Amino acid sequence: MCVAIDAGQWIGFSATSIQRAEDCAYSMMTGILRSHRGRGLSLALKLAAITFARESGVQWLRADHHPANAPAIAMNRRLGFVPV
Ligand SMILES: CC(C)(COP(=O)(O)OP(=O)(O)OC[C@H]1O[C@@H](n2cnc3c(N)ncnc32)[C@H](O)[C@@H]1OP(=O)(O)O)[C@@H](O)C(=O)NCCC(=O)NCCS
Repeated sequence: MCVAIDAGQWIGFSATSIQRAEDCAYSMMTGILRSHRGRGLSLALKLAAITFARESGVQWLRADHHPANAPAIAMNRRLGFVPV
């Protein structure tokens, strides 16, 4: 779990699990407080999550999102995720 903190308060997080049987890491949930969105925080947290996934030695990193969640889709595309 990667956490962003502002003035002692959690303002965002990105949670990632390792699924060895599928040789993948799963980016389970990334969320930023509404008041702190649009500042690149999700990119920073997910880059830390990607480092964690790489260091764990798995081949794939997977993320799911609702098909109407445009900000989440754009965030993942910005990071290089591709639809499968
Ligand atoms: C999705 C979410 C995590 C993005 O967090 P954020 O810190 O505001 O995003 P960033 O500022 O890091 O932006 C990263 C990229 O995402 C995209 N993006 C972010 N907000 C966007 C919006 N409202 N509309 C379109 N694209 C958006 C952009 O491509 C942006 O990169 P750019 O500014 O260089 O173009 C945030 O909107 C959120 O917490 N949403 C609710 C929870 C959720 O739906 N999480 C995703 C499913 S797990």
